[in-house]
Amino acid sequence: MNIVPEYVCPADGGKLTVDGESLRCPSGHLYPISRGIPRFADAGYSRAFGAQWVRFRRTQLDSYTGTTISRDRLRRGLGPVWDELAGKTVLECGCGAGRFTEVLLERGALLTSVDLSAAVDANAANFPPDEQHRIAQADILELPFQDHSYDVVFCFGVVQHTPDPEATIAALYRQVRPGGWLVFDHYSRRLQYVLSTAPLFRAVLKRLSPSRGLAATNAIVRALLPLHRRAGRVAPFVRRVSPVQAYYGKLPLDERAQRDWALLDTHDALRDWHKHFRTREQIERTASELGLEDVVITMAGNGIEARGRRPT
Ligand SMILES: C[S@@+](CC[C@H](N)C(=O)[O-])C[C@H]1O[C@@H](n2cnc3c(N)ncnc32)[C@H](O)[C@@H]1O
Repeated sequence: MNIVPEYVCPADGGKLTVDGESLRCPSGHLYPISRGIPRFADAGYSRAFGAQWVRFRRTQLDSYTGTTISRDRLRRGLGPVWDELAGKTVLECGCGAGRFTEVLLERGALLTSVDLSAAVDANAANFPPDEQHRIAQADILELPFQDHSYDVVFCFGVVQHTPDPEATIAALYRQVRPGGWLVFDHYSRRLQYVLSTAPLFRAVLKRLSPSRGLAATNAIVRALLPLHRRAGRVAPFVRRVSPVQAYYGKLPLDERAQRDWALLDTHDALRDWHKHFRTREQIERTASELGLEDVVITMAGNGIEARGRRPT
């Protein structure tokens, strides 16, 4: 099996050749390869995510939790594409540690996993590159591929964390070949979030260094998670005053997994540098302006799940 398309220079589209421990294009742009992963970008605003995925490398993998939480979410988002993955070139953008990478590989996709941060190292530790899977550190806005290259472009949990969601969706769509699919999701507008204390905590915590940020969210979760566990009928009140992401009664996780998911997702929710919200109508408009066909948009998961295809 061969994963196509080949990498090209993200700056000018030039052909890349291996030059020692780097990739080099004819005009001299140089991209280091470290730990077997080509590095086309620096983590930038995504540093906290990198630290998060290295720290919680296995927490949300179905093979670790013994559940089908990630598989079910991916299957729902992909719709009919789920049955078409075997042998298809799939680009997963913002792969994180690989909760969806795992399922995409199981489905037989020829997978390229890309992330802006050190999450690529966690992903590689979980699912080492081989003839079915390759990994690159790259920015969605400057991807190292020619346009219209992939059968499926998949991006869950990411677009709302980029500086300009509409520009990100357009960049993802550029990678889709004629007849291919774009599948992504986005946070929806939630009054519940605005009325909670989370935005206040986030305003402070997002400015901390990766190690301090992990320590701070760790302390918050350890102090407040017991309240969520015992909340019972006052759970809505506890959710209003506590910024902890807790899944008691929502996800079939044992006590240790409940704690680890709370640690991970509270960090995720309070340490992201960019956080955007969109309505269903806004996502519909973006898809329509880009010219996607067969668009299906549902309110699920992170808020809004969307898929559509590029006209042939
Ligand atoms: C909330 S995590 C989701 C990870 C994974 N998709 C999941 O659902 O577990 C968002 C990920 O998007 C990555 N990311 C953010 N902006 C990006 C960009 N411009 N290009 C590539 N990856 C990006 C972050 O580094 C982070 O790993």
